[in-house]
Amino acid sequence: MTNLENYLSMWEEKIRQTVGKERVLLATSGGVDSSVCAALLSKAIPGQLVCVFVDHGFMRQGEGDEIEAAFANKPIHFVRVNAEARFLAKLEGISDPELKRKAIGEEFISVFEEEAKKLGEIPFLAQGTIYPDIIESGGKDGTLVKSHHNVGGLPDVLDFKGIVEPLSGLYKEDVRTLGRMLGLPSSLVDRQPFPGPGLAIRIMGDVTKEKLNILRQTDAIVRQELDGLAERPGQYFTVLTNTYSVGVKDNVRTYDPVVAIRAVSTSDFMAGAYTPLPHDVLARMSARITGEVSGVSRVVYDITAKPPGTIEWE
Ligand code: XMP
Repeated sequence: MTNLENYLSMWEEKIRQTVGKERVLLATSGGVDSSVCAALLSKAIPGQLVCVFVDHGFMRQGEGDEIEAAFANKPIHFVRVNAEARFLAKLEGISDPELKRKAIGEEFISVFEEEAKKLGEIPFLAQGTIYPDIIESGGKDGTLVKSHHNVGGLPDVLDFKGIVEPLSGLYKEDVRTLGRMLGLPSSLVDRQPFPGPGLAIRIMGDVTKEKLNILRQTDAIVRQELDGLAERPGQYFTVLTNTYSVGVKDNVRTYDPVVAIRAVSTSDFMAGAYTPLPHDVLARMSARITGEVSGVSRVVYDITAKPPGTIEWE
């Protein structure tokens, strides 16, 4: 038996003893940690896990449906809340990055609380906290709420009898391996990091449905082109800047926003270098973005290291 098999059966037993026949609530983001946490709990206590997936409308192309599909055949009560309209209304006119993040965090908590109340009394809360989260939070006993990684921290007003954190002894790579052992698809397990506030912080300035639509298409092109590389960057995506430039399309003058491609080589996401992508790959992405997506005038490549630049632009 491998260490991970032991780890899994130890936690399955521990979860059964802790929660008995009661229900457990988990906020699912579609990220690696919360997905693996959900798969583990559904195996340990089939039928007792309630997953709430707050879809803020800032996910990548097709991602909300992919997340829902990954849990469709598991013994989980899965609730997807399509809250795009609420989030867009809350963000209307907000262009400052910090205010945007704050507004998204607040709205996330409101939506989550409302849904949790509809579901009736659920005594236990599960979280996909992993070992490095605990270290970063300065704790040691595995019971800390990983507010720095959640969209806005979890609601204090919801009172739980206990918190279950079955991944708290694992590093990311072990979490991915465990996810594969539990039958999760590669699209979830090998997913690159994605910020809680989603595409909203990759749109400079205020967020609108039209801008999200443009960003989703450009991001999908970059992923299609880079997903298959033998040496994939650690993280790659597009940013919709609020800088406009003049272009020409079908002999007509255009004045549309500039899209930036960001691809970083990093092992821990704390520091990193821009990835020196081959020029033919860059040229293909640029041609596809300007050719296939309307509303983009020009494509630039971000060659900033972290530090001094952060990986995200906001
Ligand atoms: P930065 O931009 O700070 O990002 O260099 C470092 C890593 O963290 C991700 N990131 C977030 N992840 N919630 C998250 O769960 C967030 O609010 C958030 N902001 C940034 C980022 O994508 C990168 O991998």
